Amino acid sequence: MPGLVIANWKLHGSLALVAEFGQQWRALPPLSDVEVVVCPPTPYLGAIREAFEGMRLGAQDCADQREGAFTGEVAVQMLGEFGCRYVIIGHSERRSLYGETDAQVARKARLASAEGLHPVVCVGESLEQREAGQEVKVVSEQLLGSLAQVPCERLVIAYEPIWAIGTGRTATPEQAEAMHGVIRRCMQEHFGAVGAAIPIIYGGSVKPENASELFGCENIDGALVGGASLEAKSFWQIASAASAGRA
Ligand code: PGA
Repeated sequence: MPGLVIANWKLHGSLALVAEFGQQWRALPPLSDVEVVVCPPTPYLGAIREAFEGMRLGAQDCADQREGAFTGEVAVQMLGEFGCRYVIIGHSERRSLYGETDAQVARKARLASAEGLHPVVCVGESLEQREAGQEVKVVSEQLLGSLAQVPCERLVIAYEPIWAIGTGRTATPEQAEAMHGVIRRCMQEHFGAVGAAIPIIYGGSVKPENASELFGCENIDGALVGGASLEAKSFWQIASAASAGRA
């Protein structure tokens, strides 16, 4: 399978950044063997669709309902209309800051999948949980809860240890690979043989300097990139490392 590298711009950006990023991206060599996705704040989806070439569009979240009196929410079919192919669901910031539960994550993932989008379901343990040796238990439980009745077609799993997000402290390739192996086995048990083929990407302080090592691991199929995705050159370098890692 080709590598998958997803930019998560979080609550960053402006029309000026979209224009500058698009211009710089177009000047960089095209990439093969890697699916490159950008998930900007929702209002920039239209502008990015026009300005970026060779990139897929994604969203950072979606509503757990299709329509109705849910002020401030954005539904999966609206994202689809704007050309989104992917939607990040259950990011640890959504879980910890907005109280999102596994059940809500699963509902969103079911809706996204039914709409033909790829749900990128995020899981990951806190530093406290890792230090207590509970990371495998925590991630396995989160996975099962977040994937209740979610079909495996189109599904992507992002392993993002919370202690590595935005901290500059990446999981070592050994730590990341060990957890990706656990997730792979979990997916196989849950979905049968097809579950083994679900892309599992890593997130948490991925940078051009550590990307190749991570992508060299057998079970790391790509990356979910926050900070380093706001700059076209560094994001391209990461995507390029993913492309080389698949060759
Ligand atoms: P980071 O964020 O690359 O800035 O650590 C990753 C994420 O939260 O998806």
